[in-house]
Amino acid sequence: MVTAHAASGKKLFLHLLWKEAVLPSGPFFAFVPCRHKHKKKWATTTPRMPSTRLALQVFDMNYGVQFGSLWPSIRIGLLSEQKYGALVNNYSDAQKVTEHLEEMHAVDFIWESQNVVQDPDSVAKHDASKPNSSPETWTKPSEPQARLFPSFCTSISPNIKCYTFPKGDISLFHPARPDILGILGYYLLDAASVLPVLALNVQPDDLVLDLCAAPGGKTLALLQTGCCRKLAANDLSVSRTGRLHHVLHSYLPKELCNIVRITSWDGRKWGDLEKNTYDRVLVDVPCTNDRHSVIEEDNNMFMRMRKGERQMLPMLQLELLVAGMRAAKPGGNVVYSTCSLSQLQNEYVVERAMELLAIQYDINVQVEDLSYFRKCFQNTFSFYPDCRLGELILPHLTANFGPMYFCKLHRLN
Ligand SMILES: C[S@@+](CC[C@H](N)C(=O)[O-])C[C@H]1O[C@@H](n2cnc3c(N)ncnc32)[C@H](O)[C@@H]1O
Repeated sequence: MVTAHAASGKKLFLHLLWKEAVLPSGPFFAFVPCRHKHKKKWATTTPRMPSTRLALQVFDMNYGVQFGSLWPSIRIGLLSEQKYGALVNNYSDAQKVTEHLEEMHAVDFIWESQNVVQDPDSVAKHDASKPNSSPETWTKPSEPQARLFPSFCTSISPNIKCYTFPKGDISLFHPARPDILGILGYYLLDAASVLPVLALNVQPDDLVLDLCAAPGGKTLALLQTGCCRKLAANDLSVSRTGRLHHVLHSYLPKELCNIVRITSWDGRKWGDLEKNTYDRVLVDVPCTNDRHSVIEEDNNMFMRMRKGERQMLPMLQLELLVAGMRAAKPGGNVVYSTCSLSQLQNEYVVERAMELLAIQYDINVQVEDLSYFRKCFQNTFSFYPDCRLGELILPHLTANFGPMYFCKLHRLN
């Protein structure tokens, strides 16, 4: 049963959500004509506002306040061509693939972050002829630096390799080609999508749940760690799980597909279906998908007919996060992520989930500090410096990745 406290929290949450998701900016409201007498004609002749424009109006109103003087540069980033990363497929001929990517002057940003740990100035002195970043050639940070960045040393999987073009370089990757066995060498994705997976820090033999997995970029990154004993990859949408199947079959050998269980269930039910089960859970929720919303009319969350769905997004996100936390074992870790800049879909969801878990399920949760990500990956991404909980990657013309919000939660009991 939801307590009065949780119910009033939900009410305030819904009110704030309504304000953010529904209200367009002032001028739009000021000139809405009266609908009397000729209602039919009015309805048929008034031009429809494109969803992308409505999205931008809502963002201008909300993010202008949330980010202040940073908003104009984030806005230009959102409206400009995004940058990609090439996630190397360790199940293909990875050596050949990394050589090819390095010939194009792309760099493995995860490898580069090791240089930041060892010597913050060394990235500026980066030499494109560095050897391949295979796990065998991985060098451990020296003792004093290990003390400076303690979590980093134990929490970045050396097996994940993701190549990007350096800051300011807007070159594009070619689509990956299949090798002789028909396996693709790399997967193109927003490089910021790899950060939630790195934050999850999968350990050897872990049982892993990817609650909202399709089309599968993060699932594939989770599998590159080589650490999953079993991986449950779920997505409510049957058509999108079809895409997930296709991605996994194009990138993994058949034997490995056996450790993956793909389902199309409602993730909100997971807390009841398989509670206290997983070592690691990724909750990469549906969101306003801000970059997509200002660029593409297709499948846009700001379409008129999706207004109700949009209004209910933070509630859905909250339920998915609570289900993911309940599916984790006591002592397990969960990463919550979105590709939105909205505080209502990011920090507020995390805060409400922590309250609800404590009140309704007697589960205590601790937010893990990920601020070392900011130091390690500063040469690749533009981080928002004022995130209260978790980390947020901001789109920026010189490093046009994201938005990507991620927050790591540790289940205490
Ligand atoms: C941001 S996308 C996930 C992207 C994916 N993790 C990746 O990296 O490719 C969110 C996904 O949540 C799915 N979804 C929406 N409602 C859901 C629910 N109730 N349970 C599970 N999945 C849901 C959507 O179909 C969508 O594919």
